[in-house]
Amino acid sequence: MDLQQHVLVVPCPAQGHVKPLIKMAYNLAYHGIKVTFANTEHVGGKILAAMSESDKEQCPIRLVTYSDGLESSPEKRDGPGMMDDLKKVMPDNLEKLIKQINDSDNEPITCVIADLSVGYILEVARKLGLKQVAVWPAGPGSLALSLHVPKLIETGIIDENGSPIGNELIRLSEEVPALKSSELTWSCPGNPTVQKMLLDYSLDVKQAAENASIVLCNTYYNLDSSSCAMIPNVLPIGPLPAIKKLNPSSGTLSSQDSTCISWLDKQPANSVIYIAFGSTTVFSQKQFNELALGIELSGHSFLWVVRPNIVNGSFPEYPNNFLERTAARGKIVEWAPQEEILAHTSVSCFFSHCGWNSTMEGLSHGVPFLCWPYMWDQFFNKNYICEMWKVGLSLEHDEDGMISRHEIKTKIYDLLTDDGVKTNALKLMENAKKSVNEGGSSYENFKSFIKYLEA
Ligand code: UDX
Repeated sequence: MDLQQHVLVVPCPAQGHVKPLIKMAYNLAYHGIKVTFANTEHVGGKILAAMSESDKEQCPIRLVTYSDGLESSPEKRDGPGMMDDLKKVMPDNLEKLIKQINDSDNEPITCVIADLSVGYILEVARKLGLKQVAVWPAGPGSLALSLHVPKLIETGIIDENGSPIGNELIRLSEEVPALKSSELTWSCPGNPTVQKMLLDYSLDVKQAAENASIVLCNTYYNLDSSSCAMIPNVLPIGPLPAIKKLNPSSGTLSSQDSTCISWLDKQPANSVIYIAFGSTTVFSQKQFNELALGIELSGHSFLWVVRPNIVNGSFPEYPNNFLERTAARGKIVEWAPQEEILAHTSVSCFFSHCGWNSTMEGLSHGVPFLCWPYMWDQFFNKNYICEMWKVGLSLEHDEDGMISRHEIKTKIYDLLTDDGVKTNALKLMENAKKSVNEGGSSYENFKSFIKYLEA
């Protein structure tokens, strides 16, 4: 009898990582692979709290937890040193977890699939004689950039701390959008300590990617074949959700307010701006006010995700009477079922921070983007959206470093009257669908991955 393959999937404990890895895990389970999904106790608790009872009953994977070692200093979970803290305890805790599972389960773990952000745990898999697979939930361009860090240092483009030496644009290849020095994924102007941490993180990612047998990536090959070609052993299997439908509440760390779907149902087709900036973006109160007033000035209906910590970690205050003035055409929620919203016919465009998941989700539904990146890979993703794929427009800061209400109003108008952008977005949507439908490149890659696991 064939041995039942049993994979342990380990995401980095953050929303933008857990959700795509859960999607991938569900797809593996639907293909007959046994999947155990390991979250930190903190994230695992949030996932269960946000999951509906029926989704829990139908969940095809086993959810387990391990300690992140931060029980006595929980505030560190939101701090910049979190990745370093995790690295200190994760290998041991994961090794213990694997041994525990194998002692109590007659189908032992055969493979570890680790998020590259915590890719050092593949070393544990190697030590235990298990298959080692990496997954990069962000775009291939940002991974190719991490792989290039030593070369960028060697050729004098950046220094050992990640700071650009000159001011010229940085290009990985002719086919990949150029980056301004401030757009590097580790760039953190004004905070050299955090920048160095992010650069070291990029080097960890590089090392883990180079050691993994396979690097799964949430993209499809033709979307960015040049970056894919720069990554050894890459296997593009995206866009992830379309391979098999995910239960709506799985993999989200906050409860989704689904009243916005019935609200959208009542709006005319193509009339609502969907505004959401992912799980970590924060604004100053002043910038938040400009954003609110810009949305109001546009005159359009809107559905806006305003996380309770969006203004420097706290509740925002809205400009005077903003809520009353916009009540008839605006809906504000704290967390939304984003993919259902992007699939809704009432949505006209996506005002986004350009996180990679949001980028793939918008692109999968043919929705044009208004781009306001915050940090990490989001500037690079914005360059893909605006310069390479031409499916969106970007906002420009004024001389005080603010995005003004007038800039927001103008760009919303420009975007919604740009037929070229909409046509491009629909084309990319079709290509994305083709890639995950039977015979498509991601579909075939996923099948070959299953074969690899079963071999
Ligand atoms: C972060 C980085 O921003 C991103 O660039 C990197 O690629 C992964 O880590 P995050 O900022 O959370 O992620 O953005 P994003 O990658 O877009 O992921 C957010 C996820 O949360 C998406 O899957 C989105 O569907 C989901 N979401 C967002 C909701 O379910 N509800 C919401 O209201 C908003």
